[in-house]
Amino acid sequence: MELFETIAKRHSYRGPFRDEPVPLEHLRKIVEAGLLAPSGENAQTTTFVIVDDPVKVQAVASMPYNKAMQQAKAYIACVVDKHPASVYENMTFQTEDCAAAVENILLAVTALGYATVWIDGWLRVNGHAETIGRLLNVPDDKVVRVILPIGTPAREVVSKAVKKPFDERAWFNQYGGTQ
Ligand SMILES: Cc1cc2nc3c(=O)[nH]c(=O)nc-3n(C[C@H](O)[C@H](O)[C@H](O)COP(=O)(O)O)c2cc1C
Repeated sequence: MELFETIAKRHSYRGPFRDEPVPLEHLRKIVEAGLLAPSGENAQTTTFVIVDDPVKVQAVASMPYNKAMQQAKAYIACVVDKHPASVYENMTFQTEDCAAAVENILLAVTALGYATVWIDGWLRVNGHAETIGRLLNVPDDKVVRVILPIGTPAREVVSKAVKKPFDERAWFNQYGGTQ
């Protein structure tokens, strides 16, 4: 799929998945897209756990949330440090590093015909991140910051989010300026 088509076709998908596995080579390829993302000082701080063991998939799926989380054939857990060390002038870029990797992964998922949704807020409530971290043997000094349920969508992936028009969010040469 051409890049701009992939960007346009990427939408958060929270619906059901078909009962079809996601092949290991596709999961690898998807995560390799994440590994290629930029990171502050090239520190490559985000690490990934690919979950395709049916027992573990079932354990994550049993946590009540949307259909995508409950019917995913695999998950990608994106892991960061709980207390990130500074990489440059007292700064840490772990949130940004993780976000860049996740976006690459979302695009790779879309390009391969699968669907997913960026799940972050849900992880931070009711101990969800900790529960999944324990299941995946994530070390105590790290946290699952984003989880991506992956599968072949059983419904068409359509945009549910209205995006503001260009003129409301982007300008040339000065903030809020007109051409
Ligand atoms: C940082 C971040 C956190 C998010 N957390 C969640 C979440 O916990 N659960 C969820 O269903 N969607 C989550 N989303 C997906 C957003 O709701 C979604 O991207 C937004 O509504 C725009 O829709 P789109 O992805 O289809 O363009 C998150 C997205 C981002 C970037």
